[in-house]
Amino acid sequence: MVGHARVKKAVFPVAGLGTRFLPATKAVPKEMMTVVDKPVIQYVVDEAIEAGVEHFVFVTGRGKGVIEDYFDIQYELEATLKARNKKAELSLLESILPKAGTASFTRQQEPLGLGHAVWCARDIVGQEPFALLLPDMIMKSEKGCLKGMMELYEVAGGNVIAVEECAPELAHRYGIVATGEAVGEGFRITDMVEKPAPGTQPSNFFINGRYILQPEIFEILETQERGAGNEIQLTDGMLKLVKQQSFTGYHYRGATYDTGAKDGFIMANIAFALSRDDIRPLVEADLKALVAALK
Ligand code: UTP
Repeated sequence: MVGHARVKKAVFPVAGLGTRFLPATKAVPKEMMTVVDKPVIQYVVDEAIEAGVEHFVFVTGRGKGVIEDYFDIQYELEATLKARNKKAELSLLESILPKAGTASFTRQQEPLGLGHAVWCARDIVGQEPFALLLPDMIMKSEKGCLKGMMELYEVAGGNVIAVEECAPELAHRYGIVATGEAVGEGFRITDMVEKPAPGTQPSNFFINGRYILQPEIFEILETQERGAGNEIQLTDGMLKLVKQQSFTGYHYRGATYDTGAKDGFIMANIAFALSRDDIRPLVEADLKALVAALK
């Protein structure tokens, strides 16, 4: 095995405005909206834990303080649960609490784009490779997406990006990669294009929101001009890095839900509810009745 620097930190950019989910996101960060009974951000943090991440870096913004509170002790609640002898609930709260000192929070003062949010994490990450997880994309699969990427990283080193295959007619909605030779469970990425004009995409593999990046991306983002939507775009930064360092695509084959979009959020709730033994029977029966009534 090649000795690539270990990926110990993961960055979670949670400073976006979530305009697609207004009015809910006026007061509730979209990362705190619940899928069944857990906030979206918990699913993504769990994926990082499964992959061996040891330090969690949240890039927050105004109105996102509740995310910081969520990963802290809630003394009043815990005292009340103790007094009522609610052991199961107490151990649930304990299980989601990060070890002291392993969660860092920094603020992106203005939502200038994903690339800028990532750049805001540079001092906390330092000169080491890091994972980047877009918290509104939640994954459902036997082996976590980031875990699979870490395994590929051990072989390939450099930068690793998770990709999924889409229908050709949908490629214009996504960041698409150009594919090269096979590497383990993936392939070399030779180029990237953000939202290609219909029919011009180099492949049907789209970037799904999980990355392992080398720290040189920070230097690139530092001087990067604004791109599409007048925002500092991560893809533009990666496009420069792809000319200097290796990029490997990890072909993720599980399900992905974009909880930042209404349909993705609803489908995530249904899919995760159906995979839970405790609520599946009820939800399944109600869903069947609903679908039958549609006909
Ligand atoms: P999105 O574009 O999906 O998030 O960014 P958004 O801007 O919050 O959503 P809409 O389009 O207005 O509904 C992808 C991720 O990058 C973060 C978001 O929080 C989201 O997790 N992000 C985006 C930032 O942290 N800062 C930004 O300036 C932009």
